[in-house]
Amino acid sequence: MANRGGFTNKLGFILAAAGSAVGLGNIWKFPFEVGDGGGAAFVVMYLAFCFLLCLPVMVTEIAIGRKTQRNPVGAFKALGYKNWAFIGFLGILCGVLILSFYNVIAGWAFGYFIELLMGNFEIGNNFSEFTSNILKIGLYSILFMGATAFIVSKGISGGIERAAKMLMPALIIMISCLVIYSFTLPHAIEGLKFYLIPDLSKIDGNAVSGALRQAFFSLSLGMGALITYGSYVGKNDNIVSSAVYITLTDVGIAFIAGLMMFPLVAFNNMGDMTNLQSGPGLIFVTLPSVFGNIGPVLGVIIGAFFFLLLSFAALTSTVSLLEVPVAYIVDEFNVRRARAVILVATIIFIIGLPSLLGNGYSDFFSNAFTIPFFSDQPSSSDFLSFMAGTADTLLLFGGFFIVLFAGYIWKKHNLDEEISFGYANYKNSFARILINLGVTVVGPILLFLLFIVVVLNNFFGIDLIQKIF
Ligand code: PFF
Repeated sequence: MANRGGFTNKLGFILAAAGSAVGLGNIWKFPFEVGDGGGAAFVVMYLAFCFLLCLPVMVTEIAIGRKTQRNPVGAFKALGYKNWAFIGFLGILCGVLILSFYNVIAGWAFGYFIELLMGNFEIGNNFSEFTSNILKIGLYSILFMGATAFIVSKGISGGIERAAKMLMPALIIMISCLVIYSFTLPHAIEGLKFYLIPDLSKIDGNAVSGALRQAFFSLSLGMGALITYGSYVGKNDNIVSSAVYITLTDVGIAFIAGLMMFPLVAFNNMGDMTNLQSGPGLIFVTLPSVFGNIGPVLGVIIGAFFFLLLSFAALTSTVSLLEVPVAYIVDEFNVRRARAVILVATIIFIIGLPSLLGNGYSDFFSNAFTIPFFSDQPSSSDFLSFMAGTADTLLLFGGFFIVLFAGYIWKKHNLDEEISFGYANYKNSFARILINLGVTVVGPILLFLLFIVVVLNNFFGIDLIQKIF
């Protein structure tokens, strides 16, 4: 096999994996999920899922990758379990689906950066006009896919790691400046109260399953992205501590994004947090007018800064999404990296066309599906939202099979042995108990149950959790 390359050191890996984790999921999705799911109550559930369930899954993915030094499909084959390679195929499918719509939203974010740079604060009121302007958003999304492809074509240390080393520190500095600024605005405190004081009445099946799906999506789990990145990690690195740093960075940035967002919204609504614009509109509809209210010069600076930040965060994630199918083609078919990148990026862009067209330009794709399928109150959903919902449900399914495989097929002692490289004391550690429990008991049971809950809820309109409790 040709030299696959690798991360130069542990920090390079942590930054690249944290870059994959931190993305639109943290800055665009997390705040509105919190808003919909009961504020702080949602945050507490989310944190519990991240550390008790997702962390063991993350370590397992990295361990499988490092042990085999292969892409997700090749990894299961290399371990000698050809029949389990379907998990890898499922992961690649998820990666392709996610990137196909994610790139569209990332293109919007980049487009907003340009619009705000030109002082167009009205863009929020014209969001649907913007998303139906196919020439504009088509161009932005081609640019975004092009930037992603360029980075991935440069390989692991020269492309992915290098980009993460520039973009991640920039992102952390930018978001910190924005938080400090948003705290100084009038009514910041009302926004923070909404964000930080739990409303237990909002916890239902939707909120619980939403918290787990959000955790999985945000940590880039369940589709082999971390098997792939793990395959480029050195044998002497401690993968448990790496996983803890990655999780802390991801959770930290999501939390900080909320600290930034809600004071801005409260400022705009003069402290009234009742009729919030929920869903995707929170960022694309509400924020531009907030920036407009800040004033013409400062508003342009802060607004453009914000959407540039969002674009940076998205870019380190699209890179990891593209790397999964690219690694598969490079490893398994011996195709040169640059060729594989062009091929895969083009195919994914084409698969993304319905999502690109489905926000106003094409009537058909804008109302493509009526979900839940068998419910009394179905509502029509655009193609992009449908893809997003389907892909993050599939991640739970993928995660379920990964832990099942590690716990019962590959077996705990092999997992333990791989994790022990770079962590001599692992066998006597608390982490081992958590991880073993995660892959044998907590993970398989919880992921299976929640997968069923989510499928019934999303696609059939049945709220199982509310029915039981
Ligand atoms: N974690 C990314 C986010 O929160 O935006 C999305 C993502 C990237 C999911 C890579 C899955 C993945 F493999």
